[in-house]
Amino acid sequence: MSEPTLTTSAGAPVADNQNSLTAGERGPVLLQDWQLIEKLAHQNRERIPERVVHAKGWGAYGTLTITGDISKYTRAKALQPGATTPMIARFSTVAGELGAADAERDVRGFALKFYTEEGNWDLVGNNTPVFFVRDPLKFPDFIHTQKRHPKTNLRSPTAMWDFWSLSPESLHQITILFSDRGLPQTVRHMNGYGSHTYSFINAAGERFWVKFHFKTVQGHKHWTNNEAAEVVGRTRESTQEDLFGAIEKGDFPKWKMQVQVMPELDAEKTAYNPFDLTKVWPHADYPPIDVGVLELNRNPENYFAEIEQVAFSPSNIVPGIGFSPDKMLQARIFSYADAHRYRLGTHYEALPVNAPKVPVHHYHKDGAMRFFPNNPNPNAFYEPNSFGGPKQNEAFREPPLKISGDADRYNHRIGNDDYTQPGNLFRLLDDGQKARLMDNLAAAMQGVPAEIQLRQVNHFYKCDPAYGRGVAERLGLSGEGLGVAAE
Ligand code: NDP
Ligand code: HEM
Repeated sequence: MSEPTLTTSAGAPVADNQNSLTAGERGPVLLQDWQLIEKLAHQNRERIPERVVHAKGWGAYGTLTITGDISKYTRAKALQPGATTPMIARFSTVAGELGAADAERDVRGFALKFYTEEGNWDLVGNNTPVFFVRDPLKFPDFIHTQKRHPKTNLRSPTAMWDFWSLSPESLHQITILFSDRGLPQTVRHMNGYGSHTYSFINAAGERFWVKFHFKTVQGHKHWTNNEAAEVVGRTRESTQEDLFGAIEKGDFPKWKMQVQVMPELDAEKTAYNPFDLTKVWPHADYPPIDVGVLELNRNPENYFAEIEQVAFSPSNIVPGIGFSPDKMLQARIFSYADAHRYRLGTHYEALPVNAPKVPVHHYHKDGAMRFFPNNPNPNAFYEPNSFGGPKQNEAFREPPLKISGDADRYNHRIGNDDYTQPGNLFRLLDDGQKARLMDNLAAAMQGVPAEIQLRQVNHFYKCDPAYGRGVAERLGLSGEGLGVAAE
């Protein structure tokens, strides 16, 4: 095979890529050595900001195939019986930086971009069905406790448990995080959840509430803390090796896609707020319905271009899928595209990995790195116009979203039961799982001031007295103020 000639980025052939241009054999380099300057300057610009959360990630392409029939709930074309849609997935840890080890106890991101024939639909979920906070005003505070302490530059268990113990809405997610499922061996061996409540809208314009679930076909596999420490000692890239390796050898991971569907007016009747992200909908009330299969079957060719630059956003929905009043979802609808404009630039959606597989017709103009052409008609750069430019289409109008109430800052810590659902999860674990959960919690709380430990343990008591007692014993806590309110 004859090798191509090396060129500059402007395409000019390069005659010498070993020696800088110098004044004399020993002499200083000349400013004229454009090739050297280009290499150094380009290297200085190889890094972009890492994601402020979920910086470490792994991804692959695949397909969603619909095998069930949910056409009575949604008119989304990608969810109709028999539809197959190309997609990309990116999985991630939340707190660690770009170079963090993979086998760490942390929530895993489970972000999916479906390139549908009606535009991109992104489902930006986690491997857990709930979250640590229910009001977006608390998200930056929560994330600060997961990142490094401003003075020590170390992770701070005191900050984490101080915040969590003052935020009992986090109990459900904490219970999952410190259970076996909080440290998956690989992303192939965990579930994914859309977590929020979304809307489905059918062809008749009726709205239903929906939750999305992706159940691993590979089965659940987890590490204990000790096993994970051994894995990290061996390799910091265990998940990348596993996912990339499995797909490379044709062992394609799959997930069964399911939805839980709630009639619109049921939202007034459930004992819990169905738009509260710290709650699940019990399966007995809203049984999971099989929808289809998600398969990952192609590795990216260029990690940076396709996985680092992939940009997911809960704002990317398609006809037949809508939002819900969930406060957290509302904030995320804003936050992601804003993050992408900062991290990737104005035209991030025109990058190949983010570009929809259907033509886009909009009137956005100019901006840094505008590299794509005009709408076909160059006179149609405003709307309305008389030159046949793209127009709105009433056929895609959503039914109105029913909303009531006075604008106020409602105290979300009043009237929301933070204890029953985490208690239910604790009670469904077997004795071994319970013991490991409580061991993991006690290990994570080592060195945290006793008053914070006590405050947290009393929350566990309220979920289930055995839960509180177990953690208290492991921490050596006893005496006044312990579990009083609960027992
Ligand atoms: P069910 O008995 O019908 O469902 C229990 C669920 O718990 C199953 O989906 C199972 O997932 C999941 N599960 C088992 N172990 C763990 C773990 N260590 N961490 C997280 N999830 C686990 O009961 P309910 O629907 O009434 O839910 C009871 C509790 O189960 C909830 O309070 C919630 O904590 C948890 N759960 C519920 C989900 C839901 O959508 N209803 C979803 C996930 C968890 P799998 O089927 O994959 O084995
Ligand atoms: C990433 C904000 C809650 C899942 C991000 C990013 C931001 C963000 C700014 C980085 C985006 C980027 O630079 O590409 C928020 C805010 C939240 C919130 C403001 C709450 C108010 C959640 C919840 C989930 C979630 C509840 C899951 C249910 C993810 C995932 C990623 C991510 C999976 C990584 C996406 C990827 O792989 O590129 N979040 N987040 N986040 N978030 Fe959130």
